[in-house]
Amino acid sequence: MASRVLSQEIEPGFHLLRVDDVDVEYFEGIWSIPEKVTYNAYLLVGDGGAVLFDGWKGIYADDLIEVIRGIVDLKDITHVIVHHAEPDHSGSLSKVLEANGFRAEVVAHPMAKPMIEAFYRIAPRFRLVKDGEELALAGEKIKIIYTPWLHWPETIMSYLPDRRALITCDAFGGYSTPRAIFDDDEGVVKEYLPSVRKYVANIIGFYRQHITRNIEKIQSLNLSIGILAPAHGLIWRRNPQLIIDYYRSLAEGRPDGNKILIISGSMYRLLEKAAAIAADEVERLGGRAIFYRFNDSSQPPFSEILSDAMDSRAIIIAATTYEAGVYPPLEHLVDLISRKIPQKPVLVIGSYGWGPAAARKISEKLASAGFKIIDKIEFQGSASEEDIRRIREGVKMLLESS
Ligand code: FEO
Repeated sequence: MASRVLSQEIEPGFHLLRVDDVDVEYFEGIWSIPEKVTYNAYLLVGDGGAVLFDGWKGIYADDLIEVIRGIVDLKDITHVIVHHAEPDHSGSLSKVLEANGFRAEVVAHPMAKPMIEAFYRIAPRFRLVKDGEELALAGEKIKIIYTPWLHWPETIMSYLPDRRALITCDAFGGYSTPRAIFDDDEGVVKEYLPSVRKYVANIIGFYRQHITRNIEKIQSLNLSIGILAPAHGLIWRRNPQLIIDYYRSLAEGRPDGNKILIISGSMYRLLEKAAAIAADEVERLGGRAIFYRFNDSSQPPFSEILSDAMDSRAIIIAATTYEAGVYPPLEHLVDLISRKIPQKPVLVIGSYGWGPAAARKISEKLASAGFKIIDKIEFQGSASEEDIRRIREGVKMLLESS
């Protein structure tokens, strides 16, 4: 499949440069994303030159240069603002600077400089900026806002007051290649938001406290935001507040209705039957069960499970003991949940052949991360009638506590 390149002047002198990366299978080499992703750069063309905001992944550098060439001479770029050094945005930088004859200054946070130098073994001229600094580039005012940990510690945003435009890099972005560039159509927004949730869970979930902190910081600046322009996904101009509020709700772990996430890992499905009973009980008590099973014919993607964990009301984890520990896929998943997902109540179910371990280890891991363990039910082999009674009781307590 070929990537799709999209260039559009979204306001006079202000261009979106978007590539739909339809070749990617695993974002960051980890997260399965069949829905793919976009990289959005922006180009400001004004008096005295042009400013490029971010870029694309390295494999698309030549495409980016070609798109820019259709708008301005590469040599007219006076500054490249690198909001965030991660290579999905900075990977094209060295080729762009080469095409520019290294005339442009790289505008970035001081922490970005050693990263850019080390990633690409280049030594461009830097203009290192600090929080609140106001620049005048290409005939326009640009205010720098330092927004650490969205998604790395060097991340900045640019605010263009004359356009009421906030360029946010990773923050307020999402996976997928939306069929529009703006949020104008409610249908487009509705189909896009699950990809935002998945992106936040996978990529920024670990830094979720910084989402809230930085949103509060942006709000305290009383910026008038007419255009919110992220580096992934839709641009927001009809309702920028919608994506700000959605990010905040995800960071705070606000549940989507009565959604209860159930994850089962069972080599021979003895335990899976117990997990299925828990799922039935969730539905019987008015919850909405989302059930992921790891077994001999199913290995669901971690990226999707984390996404559903993000806004679930509570979680049920059923795992067998394996080599005196936790069944490996679930051990990894529990580790990811403990780091990336807001704390919520958990019911743990375990089974074993000759010695118990999984339920205790999962409970300890999640409890130490601040999750509330409602009960830990563990049995040998398949669930007895007494075990099933305890599972039903555990589900009831879980729903009551969440
Ligand atoms: Fe889209 Fe953290 O890079």
